[in-house]
Amino acid sequence: MNPTNTSVAELSGNGQLVYGCDYNPEQWDPAVWQEDVRLMKEAGVNLVAVNIFGWAELESSPGTYSFDRLDQVLDLLHAHGIGVNLGTGTSSTPAWLTTLHPEILPESAAGVRAWPGGRQAWCPSSPRYREHALRLVGEVVRRYGSHPAVRLWHVSNELGCHNALCYCDVSAAAFRDWLAARYGTLDALNSAWGTAFWSQRYSAWDQILPPRTTVSTNNPTQVLDFHRFSSDELLGYYRSEAEILREHSTVPVTTNFMVTAHIRNLDYWSWAPHMDVIANDHYLDHRLDSPIVELAFAADATRGLAQGQPWLLMEHSTSAVNWQPRNIAKVPGEMLRNSLAHLARGADGLCFFQWRASVQGSEKFHSAMLPHTGTDSRIWREVLELGSILAKLKEVAGTKVQSEAALIFSWEAWWAYDQESHPSSDVRYLDQVHALYKALWETGVTVDIVAPGADLSGYKLAVVPGLYLVREDEASALEMYVRSGGHAVVTYFSGIVDENEKVLTGGYPGAFRNLLGIRSEEFYPLTPGQTLALDNGSTASLWTEATRLEGAEARASFSEGHRAGTPAVTRNRYGAGTAWYIGTALDPAGIREVVAEAAGESGISVLDSPQGLEVVVRSSTDDGYVFLINHSDEEHKYAVHGHELITGEDVSHVVAIPAGAVRVVRTANPESPTHGLRTGQKDDESD
Ligand code: GAL
Repeated sequence: MNPTNTSVAELSGNGQLVYGCDYNPEQWDPAVWQEDVRLMKEAGVNLVAVNIFGWAELESSPGTYSFDRLDQVLDLLHAHGIGVNLGTGTSSTPAWLTTLHPEILPESAAGVRAWPGGRQAWCPSSPRYREHALRLVGEVVRRYGSHPAVRLWHVSNELGCHNALCYCDVSAAAFRDWLAARYGTLDALNSAWGTAFWSQRYSAWDQILPPRTTVSTNNPTQVLDFHRFSSDELLGYYRSEAEILREHSTVPVTTNFMVTAHIRNLDYWSWAPHMDVIANDHYLDHRLDSPIVELAFAADATRGLAQGQPWLLMEHSTSAVNWQPRNIAKVPGEMLRNSLAHLARGADGLCFFQWRASVQGSEKFHSAMLPHTGTDSRIWREVLELGSILAKLKEVAGTKVQSEAALIFSWEAWWAYDQESHPSSDVRYLDQVHALYKALWETGVTVDIVAPGADLSGYKLAVVPGLYLVREDEASALEMYVRSGGHAVVTYFSGIVDENEKVLTGGYPGAFRNLLGIRSEEFYPLTPGQTLALDNGSTASLWTEATRLEGAEARASFSEGHRAGTPAVTRNRYGAGTAWYIGTALDPAGIREVVAEAAGESGISVLDSPQGLEVVVRSSTDDGYVFLINHSDEEHKYAVHGHELITGEDVSHVVAIPAGAVRVVRTANPESPTHGLRTGQKDDESD
């Protein structure tokens, strides 16, 4: 990763934390640009993403380029010391291109071709699209590859946001090539896909199609491979743009990931090694139960993709978005809390979509740094405040987040887990991930998000939510970790199939049976709303299974219903470690209890109850930075010595964090990220 060895803070131009935004000057008259740069300077903006949707302006007809306006924008920004994160401009095709070549437009599983008129309407496998897009990339990099304002290349935009899965004939041919490379022979493919079932056997490659709409259910391995192919196809496209950029420019190259709850089509574990800087876009999702906990998860996962190095938040919002059913505006202070939560979890830069709120187009009600109201507004005042706080936090740049726990997360498992024809359509992969992550968040445990098979030896605790699909070596890595003293928590519907979606037989969960010391014979999902009491006071829903103990002890059993008396939560001593199994969907307090006990046993200190105070530690070799984000309506206190960077006050023993506020305390490097004391605990004793 990172062949250019770029640190995120370098992108600010002077080692500061990056503060910036998407800037779409093509939507405005040049007279407005002058005001833009003046206000950007006032806010402390040091990096802006331009030319994200610039294609139609740069190339008004095939091969006719005009760079005058972009020249002016880059020169103006440079004159004001503002760096540029330069888009290659290929994200949205101009109308002339899809008029000339409608075959570029992507096709749905039902064979419906999308129309132009929105954005990103191109088939990832289209050679015609690539020919035109790569020609534009060449023009852009030859013109701006050495422009002094350009600090970062921004390939396309959110690759795969709308067009990840295309089912057209061109995609079908590319899918077949990908399959031939993966399997070598048709026999190997037939065996991996289990085509003996339902007479699906292929006798020639050209019979194979993407998993288009059928009258029944598709072959699950075909669906899974199509996901793998589609992710690889867009990564291949990214790499072809990056190759041209690197040929003509030494500026680092990246694209903005979407590690978020509603996009799942790209396996970013395989993408990350190809980025010079890891960048993510994240928006609070009010369709979820706990948007701020999901924000923390996404930030931790982005840090995982960056292998623990600082990363860049390429987009988030100052307030409401425009694409959810109800677009909830942020309340005063919320934008700062969100921003510093990303920073606490390893971001060295915070950028927004977008600079100036659009007055036309479908995003005109999306918030921006400069709202429709102008500078006499709460949002603008908070933008200025954030800019000045980032300047005060400069020394945090380059420090690393401290964590003693890992959560194994897999896009592949997500694709496989959520397929049709499973025991219950009510159980979803991300729900399990979020439920377990939330329990850790609420007990104050900072978590690194890692890929299956990752080296876990540096962690005290590893949690494994719903790892339905798992390879043999990945399962062995977990087993080895526990055998040599690690502590693991595995949740239901994990370890069920291999990488080809083939069931691991002999009792569930096939891959983890020995580790967990249990054997389940059958799954008994519950009906919507149905709950079962457990003998430890917790409540189960959605899922139960017929579990037999084979070495493990039952830590909670069902106390009612047809599963009464059988284990729901188990704990197994395995080698020098322990492995817990949560075999049902526990209520949040129930999950917290298990996680807290497993974490406690592993030597991680935990909170007894959720308090709404988010505590994360970043540190360098000399200093620790304790981020304290108070999401609650009451003041919290936290025991720590040092210097508070936002208020500029020294802290002896205890810092108070007013309701809704954030504090960042520089302290002598804490040896472990364990939290100090909080309100409700005995903070007097620390005085
Ligand atoms: C992102 C996208 C931006 C803008 C933003 C709105 O998906 O990259 O261009 O559309 O969402 O939230």
